[in-house]
Amino acid sequence: MCGIVGYLGEEQACPILIKGLHRLEYRGYDSSGVAIINAKGDLNVYKAKGKVSALEESIKEKDTTGTIGIAHTRWATHGEPNAINAHPHYSESKNLALVHNGIIENYKSLRTEMEKNNMTFCSQTDTEVLVQLVEYMMNTHNCDMYTAVQLALKNVIGAYAIAILDKSHPDQLVCARKGSPLIIGLGKSANGRAEFFLGSDATPIIEYTNKVIYLQDEEIAIMDRSGHIDITNLSNVKQTPQLVTLQMNLDQLEKGGYPHFMLKEIWEQPNALRTCIRGRLNMADKDVLLSGILDHKEKFLNCNRIIICACGTSWHSALIGKYFIEEAAQIPVEVEYASEFRYRNPVIYPNDIVIAVSQSGETADTLAAIQLAKSKGAFLYGICNVIGSSIARATDSGTYLHVGPEIGVASTKAFTGQVITLALLGLAIAKEKKTLSDEMFHMLVNELQQIPDKMQWTLEHNKNIDQFAQMFTYCKNFIYLGRGYNYPVALEGALKLKEISYIHAEGYPAAEMKHGPIALIDEEMPVVVIAPKRGMYEKVVSNIQEIKSRKGKIISVVTEGDTVVRDMSDYCFVIPDTRDCFVPLLAVIPLQLLSYYVAIAKGRNVDQPRNLAKSVTVE
Ligand code: M6R
Repeated sequence: MCGIVGYLGEEQACPILIKGLHRLEYRGYDSSGVAIINAKGDLNVYKAKGKVSALEESIKEKDTTGTIGIAHTRWATHGEPNAINAHPHYSESKNLALVHNGIIENYKSLRTEMEKNNMTFCSQTDTEVLVQLVEYMMNTHNCDMYTAVQLALKNVIGAYAIAILDKSHPDQLVCARKGSPLIIGLGKSANGRAEFFLGSDATPIIEYTNKVIYLQDEEIAIMDRSGHIDITNLSNVKQTPQLVTLQMNLDQLEKGGYPHFMLKEIWEQPNALRTCIRGRLNMADKDVLLSGILDHKEKFLNCNRIIICACGTSWHSALIGKYFIEEAAQIPVEVEYASEFRYRNPVIYPNDIVIAVSQSGETADTLAAIQLAKSKGAFLYGICNVIGSSIARATDSGTYLHVGPEIGVASTKAFTGQVITLALLGLAIAKEKKTLSDEMFHMLVNELQQIPDKMQWTLEHNKNIDQFAQMFTYCKNFIYLGRGYNYPVALEGALKLKEISYIHAEGYPAAEMKHGPIALIDEEMPVVVIAPKRGMYEKVVSNIQEIKSRKGKIISVVTEGDTVVRDMSDYCFVIPDTRDCFVPLLAVIPLQLLSYYVAIAKGRNVDQPRNLAKSVTVE
């Protein structure tokens, strides 16, 4: 949601912090700020509304010198997006400055308590309450900042990742987390002296070091200039951190010549999926190897039901996963919006497996949903992209997507990565349960192997979508239709268009049209129909006829060589033939490109659409 960067070392902190903020901007972009302690011991805080570039501009003439600092890019939860509510927040004395991701749920009662003690507040944020609380603890307990952070956090209800500077200790950086991720990078400056980096994810750190510590829930770390780091829990018990080597490179975080991350990530899909299936599809033996399943074979053999919890695009891929797992492995699958599941009292049987699907692995609702399922005794399986993420760590087993970092707010390669991973999972279970004939199993494995090449073909044959996207910029509404495996693709196509072009769009199962939505059709209404020559082709053709006779404009996704639907369509995108169950992996590509180019034609910022953030780490 928001992004945190921190630095302590020999170098000037400001350029490192600003670069880090740019890398984290995809997590939130309504305001940003930096706090730096200079050589004289001044603690300077600068903040600006808007993008990081606005902050950069506003600090050009300011004193930003200093080798210790923290910075933040914000996606507003409490208080409108403006410079006052932006982080870092000073304490009342201006001796402390703090940045925070997450939500302090009891901030109002804490603030009232402190106001009774004549403390004053400048902003409406929960974060200012936290920094004031730390100072309050320092004053009332006559303790150092580190101890005060422990005391303050014991009084806090909610989620946090925080970093704090104390003007009277310009050689120390303190950070803590619960619920929101925080990573500490351990590097060496040019002269070989130790330096520390902080990041709410690895993106601001990887340029300097790949040696990191993932701070655990309720841990507090203190780092100093001599290279010393101490980590304790809230009760001051020393913790032993695990040093991890990041498997990521800088190129993955750059646009690589594309105008936007979204377009880069759309085009990366063939290679991303090759990496995803590498080592998992064994073509020599026509086999599927998923260690996450093999290590827990009995669980999957004895499971009576799978529940998949997810949000947004991940929910759409989960729906495709449901169709495939039920068909291939003959296990009933329920797909739940994590945000609903977590607040119900769902029935969980001892043999249930709960799967969380999440690109970021940090979505608050999905994390809470699996925590609830765990408390009810479920076995948890995670399908995440971000390695070491909270959901990946909270689950009993799982499979990483390995599609590389996804920076564009609109999810593209993570969607196809999730669909293919769920297909691998369905095949792996089907193999153990022997629910597919050998012939069918081998045929599906063969077909899956060809998907990346067919994706490349699809991209090459649909790259001219930009030439007619302009025609749709006047549209106020879109409808997307699909049946069977392609119904979730219709939902995903509609979501992509909504989130980056701000055009209202709805996805429906094609046959549901006549139960109400068909009333919306007139000559102004573009209807995108996924109509491959597979599955319920004839029925979809009838659905198209129903729309055409009401003058709707048909934009279709058809199988190469199909002339029937093409002739009925105003615009047509072609995909190669594949098995019914794998069509979503190809059909979604023209829909991703369509949403991208319509948004570009409307002048939208596709990588940072309004009101959105990449990972939704708050409720
Ligand atoms: O990181 P997650 O997959 O858990 O995120 C879930 C949704 O927030 C995410 O898919 C969102 O809907 C995207 N913006 C869609 O493009």
